[in-house]
Amino acid sequence: MKVTIVGAGNVGATCADVMAYRGIASEIVLLDIREGFAEGKALDITQCATNTGFNTKVTGVTNDYAKTAGSNVVVITSGIPRKPGMTREELIGINAGIVKSVAENLLKHSPEAIFVIVSNPMDTMTYLAYKSLGLPKNRIIGMGGALDSSRFRTYLSLALDKPANDISAMVIGGHGDTTMIPLTRLASYNGIPVSQFLSQEQLDKVAADTMVGGATLTALLGTSAWYAPGASVAYLVDSILNDQKKMIACSVYLEGEYGQNDICVGVPCIIGKNGVEEIIDIQLNEAEKALFSKSSDAVRSMNDALSG
Ligand code: NAI
Repeated sequence: MKVTIVGAGNVGATCADVMAYRGIASEIVLLDIREGFAEGKALDITQCATNTGFNTKVTGVTNDYAKTAGSNVVVITSGIPRKPGMTREELIGINAGIVKSVAENLLKHSPEAIFVIVSNPMDTMTYLAYKSLGLPKNRIIGMGGALDSSRFRTYLSLALDKPANDISAMVIGGHGDTTMIPLTRLASYNGIPVSQFLSQEQLDKVAADTMVGGATLTALLGTSAWYAPGASVAYLVDSILNDQKKMIACSVYLEGEYGQNDICVGVPCIIGKNGVEEIIDIQLNEAEKALFSKSSDAVRSMNDALSG
């Protein structure tokens, strides 16, 4: 199985690294606009093979889309990341032009590929890809919820002092500091609602920390994070290529689901070989429904900037 990752920067290269180590794809192509950069990252990753024991073929190319031909999955991480104090939304103008042209080039060479969009503001970039490529909605997936949910589980694990892998929890809604919705009511530790162990005040703090999880790291690192984002993309691609049918919160085009139309925003999806196999309709309570509607309104007004 072949995967192309456009953007060999922090997130793209980390994703390639995780996918190679875990043998998720047999072939990975990294493509970047910076002369020699993707080649260098691919060579560095390849030189890990003997000491870590993987067989994945990893190559790097500078803007040569012919080399991406026949990819099963293409991942778009190209664009600029945010700097301290910036919101994801401020990246819209620059990243929209990059994402549109990259997506069109990829489609020319991999007409059957499933697209995974990572560049921010991710929900709007996913919507842009959906509108400009004309592909069925199951083949355009925005990655944000996988990352936000892993941050949510991490903060819950810290509050509970229990392993994150024993915690089940999900973030839906927009992939923004003020638009994401950590579903604390549905979070559980080995099937037991976390509300049995944590006070409302503790749960509110976990939710607040999750929402600014990316900004916290941006302030610490001077640029946005890459280990957890790269691993989250690899997790999503694994579910596609290996038809795992995992339930992952992804930004997908909605046509009436969750009361929304003509928008890409995070909802629980079953992810398999066809991309989005199914959108899961969870029963939100009235407060959660109101949050989802407010979050969607914010994403929609961001989408309006595409035509502005
Ligand atoms: P980075 O700056 O390390 O890497 C971006 C790469 O894209 C650079 O190597 C650059 O040369 C390349 N690039 C720019 N224009 C290009 C083009 N036209 N064609 C090919 N390559 C091009 O940035 P980083 O940290 O990897 O972040 C990438 C994007 O992912 C940003 O927009 C960031 O905000 C977003 N992001 C999204 C997350 C999510 O959960 N959806 C999580 C983390 C980052």
